[in-house]
Amino acid sequence: MKSIRILGIESSCDETGVAIYDGKLGLLSDVLHSQVKLHQQYGGVVPELASRDHVKYLVSLVDEALSQAGLSKTDIDGVAYTAGPGLIGALLTGACFAKSLAFGLGIPAIAVHHLEAHLLAALLDNSSLNFPFLVLLVSGGHTQLMEARALGDYVLLGETLDDAVGEAFDKTAKLMGLPYPGGAILASLADECPTTTRHLFPPFPRPMLNRPGLDFSFSGLKTHVLTTWGKSDQDDLARMSIAYAFQQAVVETLSTKCERAIEQTRITRLVVAGGVSANQSLRAALTDMIASFAGDIYFPRPEFCTDNGAMVAFAGFLQFQAGKIDSNLGIEVKARWPL
Ligand code: KG4
Ligand code: ZN
Repeated sequence: MKSIRILGIESSCDETGVAIYDGKLGLLSDVLHSQVKLHQQYGGVVPELASRDHVKYLVSLVDEALSQAGLSKTDIDGVAYTAGPGLIGALLTGACFAKSLAFGLGIPAIAVHHLEAHLLAALLDNSSLNFPFLVLLVSGGHTQLMEARALGDYVLLGETLDDAVGEAFDKTAKLMGLPYPGGAILASLADECPTTTRHLFPPFPRPMLNRPGLDFSFSGLKTHVLTTWGKSDQDDLARMSIAYAFQQAVVETLSTKCERAIEQTRITRLVVAGGVSANQSLRAALTDMIASFAGDIYFPRPEFCTDNGAMVAFAGFLQFQAGKIDSNLGIEVKARWPL
């Protein structure tokens, strides 16, 4: 039987990603255009510029993905696109493009939930992973603990009451003068921090750990950084020590909440997804924690932690297989969309 090939398009924020997933051969191609340089001078993503840039790069990225896979448009069986959540203009560019392409080729379009794509990215390299499993989704816009029961069936166990963890990383980096997007830079500073510099300041709070439940809160921690930084010498040493203390507080909080979720659900398979799942210190702490339950932990490949087309192509493939296609001729995207 002919293998199913899905073209996936990601355009929910500041990365234009296009990939092709083949049901038998796996990922055939994966190309990405990052807008980081475009938004850097503004210190954050400018939505209108993001939309325009997606328009500029979509056609050439699709051509590149096809040529990398050695395929032509007519070899594709479906076009998956991110339908939300995300920036509305950015989502619309990808959705219009994907649905027009699908319509022109006479093949189905598949609307993909961005967060579902993130969490399914862990399955791209781990075909042994079966439902149910727990998911810690940590990105720039979301921080959630979920129980994944089946494709499309997710139960929310806890979420952030204020800032997302990636947002807290980025804001902390920004207020200490690090360039945008600061999350990964802050993390490297923390990782490089020598033992002698780690505890220059009193311990940072572990938000929500003294309360029951699986919700998170990171805005207090950010305020704590602001106060500590304000009182410090504001030099490289202070920046590094704060980066370390901040990352430690975040990692310990996330790890403890995951531990509680395991105790509550008795599920010992954990998937960690979203941009912050690239964080090495978080990966190490969660790997140790899961070992104490003799459980299993799954991370997407580092390049599939942040936004990419591969996760959309893969999620689209799974939905296509399950008969979940988007037969609506209109274009519908959602800036907010709970999973
Ligand atoms: O999933 P993603 O690419 O975009 C959203 O859907 O939000 O996540 C981006 C977020 C940013 O906040 C970025 O600073 C953070 O992930 N991030 C990291 C690391 N790499 C990316 N945060 C901490 N440590 C990292 N190594
Ligand atoms: Zn994302």
